[in-house]
Amino acid sequence: MVDVKNVLVLGAGLMGHGIAQVSIMAGYNVTLVDIKQEFIDNGVKKIEEGLKKLEAKGQLNAAEVMGRLKTSIDLASAVKDTDIVIEAVVEKMDVKKDVCKTVMENGPAHVIFASNTSTMSITEIGKDSGAPERVCGMHFFNPVPLMRCIEVIKGAQTSDETFNTAMQVAETLPCLRGKRYIAPVLKDRPGFIVNRMNAPVQIYMGWVFDQAAEKGIPWERIDADAGGKMPMGPCMLSDYVGLDTMLHVMNYYKETLSPDFEPPKVVKELVANGNLGAKTGKGFYDWSQGRDAIVEKVKKAEPAGIFNLEYSMAIMLNEGCRILEEGVASGYKIIDDANMAGMNTPGPFGAGKKNWEKWSKLLEELADKTKKEYLRPCELMKTGQFVKMRK
Ligand code: CAA
Ligand code: NAD
Repeated sequence: MVDVKNVLVLGAGLMGHGIAQVSIMAGYNVTLVDIKQEFIDNGVKKIEEGLKKLEAKGQLNAAEVMGRLKTSIDLASAVKDTDIVIEAVVEKMDVKKDVCKTVMENGPAHVIFASNTSTMSITEIGKDSGAPERVCGMHFFNPVPLMRCIEVIKGAQTSDETFNTAMQVAETLPCLRGKRYIAPVLKDRPGFIVNRMNAPVQIYMGWVFDQAAEKGIPWERIDADAGGKMPMGPCMLSDYVGLDTMLHVMNYYKETLSPDFEPPKVVKELVANGNLGAKTGKGFYDWSQGRDAIVEKVKKAEPAGIFNLEYSMAIMLNEGCRILEEGVASGYKIIDDANMAGMNTPGPFGAGKKNWEKWSKLLEELADKTKKEYLRPCELMKTGQFVKMRK
C-alpha cells in the first residue's frame, strides 16, 4: 500500500476546497492547484473561514492547520512529490483525461490519481494515462466537510493496491457531522451508487420543473411539495449542487444509460444565461440573501401538488435494483447506508421491502404520464426478488 503523506487537490471550486480542508485537517501536506490564482484565492478564503469556525469552537488551531496548505497553478511541477491526487475539476471527460495524463507523466512512479467525478467512467479517465492501474474514483458529497459519504471506485484496470490505498485515505478524512461512511464501489458504472440511484429522479424532477414553468408555478411551491421531508427540496438542491453540474450529469446519463435523461428545458435556459445556482448567486432562486431566506420562503409557500416524494422513493428502489442486478454494490444495505451518508435521506430498500408492489404500479403510471420508458420497473423490482438477495 502507498504510504500517503502528500496530497494534491486539483480544482479549488465547490468540491476541491472542501476536500483540501478535510485533507489538511487529517494531517496531510496538501497542495491545492487550479488554473488561475483568483480561483485558488477564493478556495483558500473558504477553507480559512471553515477552520476559523472550528477554532472558535476550540477544536483546532487554524494557523497550524493552514500551515499544511500550499498552492500552485502549475500541475506538472506541483505533482512531483505527490502520493495521491484527488481531482475535482469540471465534469468534462476530455479535461479529466488530460489532467490524469499530466499527473502520470510528471508525478512519481507510485502516484495515485483519484477522480471525484460525479458520474463518469473511471476506466475511461485512466485509459490513456499510461498507468490506468493507479487510477480510481474517490467520490465525495457536497458539502464535503458535512456529508459523511465517500464512494471509492474500482475502474476496470484499477489495482488492488490503488483501491486499498484510496479506501484507507478516505477513512482518515474527518467529517464534521458524525463518522465517515466509505462505500466500496465494485463495478465502474455511470453514477456509481448514490448518484446512480438518484439519477432517474432527475428525469422525474425535470418533468416537474418543466410542468411548473409551463404553468407559471413558483419554485418555492414545488419545494414545499417535499413537505420538509427532504433536507432541501428539489429546486433548492439543484441550485445547491450547481445547475451546470446537473446539466453535464444528465447529458452523460443520456449517452450512457438512456435518452430519457434529456435535461429539462428550464435548466438548459438557466445555464445558458449563466445562472448556475448558489455558486453564481442565481438559479431557480436568488441566493443573494443567503440559504435561510430561501428556506423561509419555502416554509411559507403553499404546496403545488406536483412533486410527490413517494414517486422519488419508487424510482430510487427501481434504480437500486438495477445497481444490484449489475453487481455495482454487494448488497442493498450498503446502498441504503450510502444514500443516508451522502444525501442525508433514507435509501429506498427499508420501505421498499413492504411497498414494492404498490411502487411498481406507481412507476407504470408515471412512465405512462411522463412518456419516459426508463421509469418502468425492472424485473428485480416488480417480482420483489430483491427481498431474497443478500442484505
Ligand atoms: N468548516 C467548519 N464548519 C462548518 C463548515 C466548514 N466548511 N461548513 C459548515 N460548518 C458548520 C456550520 O457553521 C454549522 O455550525 P453551527 O452548528 O455551530 O452553527 C455546522 O457546521 C452545520 O452547518 P449548517 O448549519 O450549514 O448545516 P445544516 O444543519 O443547515 O445542514 C446540510 C446543511 C448538511 C448541507 C443539509 O442542508 C443537507 O443535508 N442538505 C442536502 C445536501 C445534499 O443532498 N448533498 C448531496 C448533493 S449530491 C452530491 O454531492 C453528489 C454529486 O456528485 C453531485
Ligand atoms: P466548480 O466549478 O466549483 O470547480 C471546478 C474547479 O476546477 C474550478 O475552480 C476550475 O477553475 C477548476 N479547473 C477547471 N479545469 C482545470 C484544470 N485543467 N486544472 C485545474 N483546475 C481546473 O465545480 P465543483 O462543483 O467543485 O465540481 C468539481 C467536480 O466534482 C466535478 O467533477 C463534479 O461533477 C464533482 N462533484 C460535484 C459535486 C457538487 O455537488 N457540486 C458533488 C460531488 C462531485
